[in-house]
Order: sequence, then structure tokens, then C-alpha cells
Amino acid sequence: MACHGVSAKVIGPGFRDVAARYAGDTTAESRLVVKVKSGGTGAWGAVPTPAQPLLSDADARTLVQWILAGAK
Ligand code: HEM
Repeated sequence: MACHGVSAKVIGPGFRDVAARYAGDTTAESRLVVKVKSGGTGAWGAVPTPAQPLLSDADARTLVQWILAGAK
């Protein structure tokens, strides 16, 4: 949460903006799991999201599902 607010952009986008952008996109979950784990840039700007190598696939998927469900 140092980088993402539930609604507000901090360094990265607010999680609810991420959910809104990918609403209805059935391929987003798997793509975002890869992005969260390996890091990347370009979807929201030039600042990258850092890789999270210590995060398990299962935990990354749980986080992404929570984000895509609106981070409630
Ligand atoms: C486990 C921790 C994290 C999760 C689950 C997470 C999740 C996400 C997600 C789902 C996106 C959207 C990616 C896309 O639309 O392609 C994103 C983007 C981003 N995150 Fe994170 N993030 C995490 C940690 C961080 C940290 C620690 C930082 C800051 C150092 C950060 C900064 C960013 C930035 C700058 C973006 C935009 C990247 C782009 O434009 O493609 N994130 N993050």
C-alpha cells in the first residue's frame, strides 16, 4: 500500500482504477498475475511496478482477484 491506494494513485494506480480498466476483460487476471510477479511498465505511465519474486503464484493471484473485484 506504499505504492497503491485502494482508490487513490500513489506511485502506481489506485486499485479501483485498475479494476475499472479491466472490467469484463477475462484475460486480465492471468496477465496481471504475471505483471505483478515479474514487474513491468507502460500501462499507466513510465514508472515501473517492481518485480515481486518472493510472492507465490497463489498469493499473486489472490491479490489480483481482490484488486479486480474492486479491492473491498
Ligand atoms: C504485491 C504488491 C503489488 C501488487 C499486487 C501490485 C499490483 C499492481 C497492478 C495490478 C498494476 C496494474 C498493471 C497493469 O495495468 O498492467 C500495477 C501497476 C503499477 N504498480 Fe503495482 N503492485 C504491487 C507493488 C507495487 C510497488 C511496491 C510499487 C512501487 C514501487 C508499485 C507501483 C506500480 C506502478 C508504478 C504501476 C504502473 C505500471 C505500468 O504503468 O505499467 N506496485 N500494480
